[in-house]
Amino acid sequence: MKETYKILFVCLGNICRSPSAEAVMKKLVKDAGLQEQFFIDSAGIIGYHKGEQADPRMRTHAARRGYKLDSISRPVQTQDFFDFDLIIGMDNRNIEDLREKAPDLVSMRKIHQMTEFSRNRLYDYVPDPYYSGADGFELVLDLLEDACAGLLEAITSSNRDN
Ligand code: 4NP
Repeated sequence: MKETYKILFVCLGNICRSPSAEAVMKKLVKDAGLQEQFFIDSAGIIGYHKGEQADPRMRTHAARRGYKLDSISRPVQTQDFFDFDLIIGMDNRNIEDLREKAPDLVSMRKIHQMTEFSRNRLYDYVPDPYYSGADGFELVLDLLEDACAGLLEAITSSNRDN
């Protein structure tokens, strides 16, 4: 891969699912020795939690699997659609909101759903864990570990083909 590949993960609040996706993907990329070739970030549809660390429950569950969630919540901006190659939402509502925010057709084509890249899990979205118990946070991590592995494989294999 010649250029830096830029991925933005997006959920509603940017304090649970997308910061976790960011951490999971960063670890996969690092373990594959591809850190220099990727820029990975996350953002939220709403700015309600802007400036906050990830939800403490999400951080605790992620830490048990070896992920350090250190991103600070921020809302998606129009500039993100120009800056990133891939903008990945967690559920259908995120996708609808991202499509509404997309400034042009090129940006629109950058929008994908996280579970498009799932390898083993049959969920078609990553459920919002905010009002769930511990199981919801574990499910988020299970789905993200599966789908991020698929995403990395999709990117690296399409680069091998080109
Ligand atoms: P996230 O979870 O979208 O995975 O970060 C949520 C966080 C906050 C809220 C909803 C979902 N909220 O309504 O404040």
